[in-house]
Amino acid sequence: MRKRINPKKFIKEKIKEIENKSGNKKALMATSGGVDSFTCMILARHALGRNLKAVFLDDGLMRKDEPKKVKKIAKKFKVNLEIKNVASSFFRNLKGISDPEEKRKAFRKVFYQTLGKIVKKEKCQFLIQGTIAADIVETKKGIKTQHNVLEQIGIDPAKYGFKLIEPLRKLYKPQVRLVAKALGLPKEVWQRMPFPGPGLALRIIGKVTPKKVEIIRKATEVIEKKLEKFSPFQCFAVLLSDKATGMKGGKRAFGDIIVIRSVNSKDAMTAQPTKVSLGVLFEIQKEICQKIPSVIKVLYDLTPKPPSTIEYI
Ligand code: XMP
Repeated sequence: MRKRINPKKFIKEKIKEIENKSGNKKALMATSGGVDSFTCMILARHALGRNLKAVFLDDGLMRKDEPKKVKKIAKKFKVNLEIKNVASSFFRNLKGISDPEEKRKAFRKVFYQTLGKIVKKEKCQFLIQGTIAADIVETKKGIKTQHNVLEQIGIDPAKYGFKLIEPLRKLYKPQVRLVAKALGLPKEVWQRMPFPGPGLALRIIGKVTPKKVEIIRKATEVIEKKLEKFSPFQCFAVLLSDKATGMKGGKRAFGDIIVIRSVNSKDAMTAQPTKVSLGVLFEIQKEICQKIPSVIKVLYDLTPKPPSTIEYI
């Protein structure tokens, strides 16, 4: 049972904490539009006003139209979110890597190097980030390296040129959602499915290429739309590294395998597969194979966490 929080009190305390820690100096905050980073950004805006520089890193690994959508919501909360197109450097740094932990660490490195450059250019001293307790726990236990955990595993952020402020580090997802709601964020933010920082790079088994990202982006869009009515904690597509034999137009074809992953969970620490109707799964298979001609097989993953984790790598 997680500790109950009083969201209004938490908001007041955290605004004060950000004010005190930053001491009226400029701070950078990168948001992906997810509930954690968006909530954190709004707390930072209340605390810092014009001393907050907010960016969205368009790393080429986001879902369809994500930068545009997030910028629009940020504007409603008087945050001028600057979209930074950094896709080429992320693809360069991930190139040729297939090992899951190597991929996660390569992402973390390019992520903080990119933010370090922006911190320097904008003359900020602090990086505010929306890391939550689950990110820290999984990284410290060595289950998987979450991209947004540094100090807790002995990496000094000074290496990248900033000090860190992490207002949400003690909260789990349901508590963050309560804070987001109390801040007046719209339902599309506080109820949003989690999406990992390394984005679609985690949904590709093996090497990440722009072509594979395009496949997984299209499949993700189909799955999110079709499964929305089941209100899963998270649902997405995964592209396997193997291929399967099939046939097209009466000829042999050797193509991609997509897995549909959909789970119910409270706080991402455990998860159960969503009880999706077979009819909807058939619809998803049909649409994916129509929209992505390289796909030959579509599978549904039945595994809870544990023994599985939610993501594949
Ligand atoms: P797993 O796969 O460990 O994921 O069951 C638990 C939750 O964490 C998300 N996740 C991440 N989020 N950076 C993030 O911001 C990461 O590196 C990362 N890895 C996993 C995952 O989507 C799920 O909600």
